[in-house]
Amino acid sequence: METAVPIDVKALFNLTYGMYIVSTEWEGRRNGQIANSVMQVTSTPSTVAVCLNKENLTWELLLKSGKFSVAVLEEEVPMTFIGTFGFKSGRQIDKFAECNWKTGPAGTPIVLDHTLSWIEAKVFERVDVYTHSVFFGEVLSCSCLKEGSPLTYANYHLVKKGKSPKSAPTYSLNAVK
Ligand SMILES: Cc1cc2nc3c(=O)[nH]c(=O)nc-3n(C[C@H](O)[C@H](O)[C@H](O)COP(=O)(O)O)c2cc1C
Repeated sequence: METAVPIDVKALFNLTYGMYIVSTEWEGRRNGQIANSVMQVTSTPSTVAVCLNKENLTWELLLKSGKFSVAVLEEEVPMTFIGTFGFKSGRQIDKFAECNWKTGPAGTPIVLDHTLSWIEAKVFERVDVYTHSVFFGEVLSCSCLKEGSPLTYANYHLVKKGKSPKSAPTYSLNAVK
């Protein structure tokens, strides 16, 4: 017989993350979104993973394009900027009309505002996990733009008093603060 184990979701709140903008482009349509769920997976070859909600426009475009960029955000990023990329959908607004960006060597759109460094990757595997998909990408190119402290998810919540929308994998942590 199985014994009941306690589920204290506060335990998950101790997991640490950074804050990123994941972007992609398909047939001229550029879009990006805030994601905290970005990680390096292997070193040789260099691979990364991002976890995106299936209802996001970025998820829809990435499914078709198979390539994405990750912009690593600096600590000083204004909340209004996070609001544009993290609380609005590209289905309602053109986020790339509101920021400085460039096309990277591998062909993905890269957000330049408040970005310390960026990575471009080609998807080689997708794993669907209920509401989200984890996209595994092999790094195609990456570069540093400036020195600075990367924004952490903890800083966003504790210092900037930010929230996470329903589409974020860590949404349930809003409730335990
Ligand atoms: C702090 C923060 C963290 C987030 N992390 C993620 C994430 O890891 N994955 C995800 O799919 N959405 C995440 N989101 C939510 C998306 O950024 C949001 O749903 C966005 O509006 C989707 O835009 P799109 O429809 O233009 O793709 C996060 C938002 C915030 C503010």
